[in-house]
Amino acid sequence: MNQPVTTPHSPTVVLGVTGSIAAFKSIEIARLLIQHHIRVLPVLTQSGARFVGPVTFTGICGEASRMDMWDPSFSGELHVALASQADVVLVAPATADIIARFAQGRADDLLTALTLCARGHVIVAPAMHPRMWAHPATQRNVQTLQRDARIEWVGPVVGPVANGEIGLGRMAEPQNIVSAVLARLRPPDLNDWHIVVTAGPTVEDIDPVRFLGNRSTGRMGFSVARRAAARGARVTLIAGPTELTTPAGVQRRDVRSASDMRSTLHDVLGPSLGGADALVMAAAVGDYRPAHIHNEKMKRGAQPIQLELVANPDILAELGSMRTGSSPLLVGFAVETADEPTLIEHARGKLSKKRVDFIVANSASIGFGGESNEAILVGSDDIERLPRMTKDELADRILDRVIGLRSGRG
Ligand SMILES: Cc1cc2nc3c(=O)[nH]c(=O)nc-3n(C[C@H](O)[C@H](O)[C@H](O)COP(=O)(O)O)c2cc1C
Repeated sequence: MNQPVTTPHSPTVVLGVTGSIAAFKSIEIARLLIQHHIRVLPVLTQSGARFVGPVTFTGICGEASRMDMWDPSFSGELHVALASQADVVLVAPATADIIARFAQGRADDLLTALTLCARGHVIVAPAMHPRMWAHPATQRNVQTLQRDARIEWVGPVVGPVANGEIGLGRMAEPQNIVSAVLARLRPPDLNDWHIVVTAGPTVEDIDPVRFLGNRSTGRMGFSVARRAAARGARVTLIAGPTELTTPAGVQRRDVRSASDMRSTLHDVLGPSLGGADALVMAAAVGDYRPAHIHNEKMKRGAQPIQLELVANPDILAELGSMRTGSSPLLVGFAVETADEPTLIEHARGKLSKKRVDFIVANSASIGFGGESNEAILVGSDDIERLPRMTKDELADRILDRVIGLRSGRG
């Protein structure tokens, strides 16, 4: 992927990196922000720089890493200059110590001084051992800062911390932190929407230990849910089995088989499908299921066996046929191993057969598993070929089109 271009006029984030083991994840945060065409100005505390060096951030961000308020290479007040440029000051990871210093209003190093002087929004993503987070001193500092309306907290979350213990103290996932930043930089444009998203594979049991599944990881659907929530929508995510963590602000319903997914969708959408403004069907729903589920584990034998499969209901086609007007907007996905002309032809066929508003068509070799995707948005009378981009960026493009469709229909 080409490095996205940012200019001094791009939305700008000061990324404060403090002395936590989670500092290595700040590199991923910087990378994701830049992919969203955001200019990232890295500021490291002395302890932060012991975990990840300034050279790494300078290289990734294409901007000088700053650590010292007294930097002789800068003429003027560096903390004021950085604070004035920043639309958002993001501190990720934030140690217990920096939180304590923020709570006291200290300004004795570059990061505290510029945060005190921030003109934009301040987002803090704490990372520390759960006992440090739970300590009354830290909680008191957090409460002090919560009274300061300008600070937004992302995490911490429950999960394994550096020494393997599990508890509340782990830094939120980089993508969720980036979503919070994007939400601040981009005014919420899905405020009055309820968006239902399906994601992940469905699996069909053969016996108590075996199943039929597919290679979907759920990342695309989770990106759509994450971005829709960050843009202000109420989001219900119906997810097949996946390891992914629920994006912030999203209500999740877990399902297993195609039939579970179908009944949960009907439950959420209601009899006339009036329960949602848009449905984005990113899940890879299994086309077939075993005709019989064996109650006992099937025994191994030398002879070949036959597995009889029956077709699952086509959920999207069913919803398309139930829809009377143009609501909810329906977005389908088509994943093919075929070449581009066949991909588009299949997507067009799906579009009319299933009565959906547009299809996100992509190749199985690109879309499955990875972080990025390359898709063609196929509408009834147009085709939008998108370059390779992150799944979050693609999610935004899909949501932009959904908004465009509704406003086009008045
Ligand atoms: C190996 C190691 C890991 C650390 N991890 C954390 C951490 O995850 N969270 C935290 O609050 N402090 C952690 N600390 C302690 C901070 O680095 C220490 O409080 C430091 O003074 C913080 O400075 P800063 O907030 O200016 O970056 C760690 C220290 C070491 C040596």
